[in-house]
Amino acid sequence: MPATNLRHLSLTDRLLDELQHGLKTCHLRPPAAPRAYPADGIDDDELSAPERYHVAGLMRVNNAGEVAAQGLYRGQALTARDDRVGNAMREAAAEENEHLHWCQRRLEELGAHRSLLDGVWYWGSFAIGALAGAAGDRLSLGFVEETEQQVGRHLEKHLERLPHEDHRSRAILEAMRADELRHAENAAQAGAAELPQPVKSAMTLVSKIMTLTAYRL
Ligand SMILES: [Fe+2]
Ligand SMILES: [Fe+2]
Repeated sequence: MPATNLRHLSLTDRLLDELQHGLKTCHLRPPAAPRAYPADGIDDDELSAPERYHVAGLMRVNNAGEVAAQGLYRGQALTARDDRVGNAMREAAAEENEHLHWCQRRLEELGAHRSLLDGVWYWGSFAIGALAGAAGDRLSLGFVEETEQQVGRHLEKHLERLPHEDHRSRAILEAMRADELRHAENAAQAGAAELPQPVKSAMTLVSKIMTLTAYRL
């Protein structure tokens, strides 16, 4: 459904649309996106069993992060005051779906499962996103900028923690990191407000909890 039509729907229809998007995000793999899978044509050196376990944990965390990104953007879109901001949030969620597709493909290659708590990550993030959207469009954009910067720094750390032999995961995370930094830059240019430090610290804390939990669950 084109994003521009959403304003003509009743609140019930919009909530049903959100419910459907949430269920799809948590239970299905998104369809292949326009850009190629970054790991295409890249061979891995042999990974040992402990390395495989470790990479699966890292990729499960990144998959959970992308599930949360869907929830955040869709929640922000739902309560955005300006239609243009709402549509931009919905389009951003569609672009992040590409990352979700890549992470899930890599998890499947590793024979690993996605986070069992994806529903918690999605709907918890959706609620936080809806609150951020209700706080006003400039603060909501500030929230996007801060989130994307934090994700970019997080991906940098994961790139350091990947086994040297894992060229496939590295290609995926490098492509994602470049995108997240561009998303942060776009939000800044769209008029993002600086968030208060306690909000930034709370965001860091929530992402730490998710990172630690999704590595195993
Ligand atoms: Fe992403
Ligand atoms: Fe992003």
